[in-house]
Amino acid sequence: MTATDEFTVMVGRLNKLSVERHFDAYADIDWDDPKFALDITDPRLELRALDPLRHTDWYAAQPPDVRAAVGCHRWAAYMKTGWHFENLLQRGLLRHTFALPNGAPEFRYLHHEIIEESQHTLMFQEFVNRSGLPVRGMPWGWRKLAEWFVVPLSRVFPALFFLFVLGGEDPVDHMQRRVLREADPEDLHPLVERIMRIHTTEEARHLSFARHYLHRRVPELGFVRRHALALIAPVVLGIMTRIMVWPTGDLIPHGGVPRQVVRRANWSPAGRQLLKDSVSKTRKLFGELGLITPASRTLWKAVGLWDKESKGK
Ligand SMILES: [Fe+2]
Ligand SMILES: [Fe+2]
Repeated sequence: MTATDEFTVMVGRLNKLSVERHFDAYADIDWDDPKFALDITDPRLELRALDPLRHTDWYAAQPPDVRAAVGCHRWAAYMKTGWHFENLLQRGLLRHTFALPNGAPEFRYLHHEIIEESQHTLMFQEFVNRSGLPVRGMPWGWRKLAEWFVVPLSRVFPALFFLFVLGGEDPVDHMQRRVLREADPEDLHPLVERIMRIHTTEEARHLSFARHYLHRRVPELGFVRRHALALIAPVVLGIMTRIMVWPTGDLIPHGGVPRQVVRRANWSPAGRQLLKDSVSKTRKLFGELGLITPASRTLWKAVGLWDKESKGK
């Protein structure tokens, strides 16, 4: 089977799964069910164990209602940042499909993905609205830079665009899977759990497509683009992982968490490890693609995403 045939088979499998198992933000979540009611003092909203901020003396010293409110801020900020990313992703995918020829195997799948991201955006914003919290999501400057420079990449350098896709989706998927795996069901808010179960199910397909796309396209790249991708990847991931995993800008002004506390938690050994772990699958992919070169490895280390344990695998 040629690489093109394998890619077509993979896309066909993802198309089939997208039809068999997909969710609607309003038909599949009963927002008015009393068990999903969002009260920001609910102890089930407290920060999760994987969050470095949870293990600070400052957090431990707060009364339960403040701990829950900080946790709810964290979820709301995370969901708003999530849909900002998804909005940019959808625009990039729409531009990409706009130029595809008749019969392109990825056309149908990319539209399944765009539709799913729209449903995710609806459920994330509904959560934010119901929390009543004034979260801003992705920092304004990064939003503008992404609109101007990242979205057009989906046409001019699609492999680089799909690196950005992985830079947003992989850290979010890593954190959501860990929360679902490590949580005691009694101890996690049912609305958060429902949203995360829907999201991880559909994101598994999006991540699978992005990885297969890069496996298919990177070997066709010329010398310059290949080396550019190897060097740009750690820089992009270093920025994106921090945006997706450390919601600093929302917790300090509105969540009432002192700047020093957030900074110390983010740069603690647990905070640094969380960054490394949240890109472990993308790092492994780049190793498989031969895109971790001696020069790029230095950059992976400089941005704090190189893990000695995994040796880049
Ligand atoms: Fe999504
Ligand atoms: Fe996605």
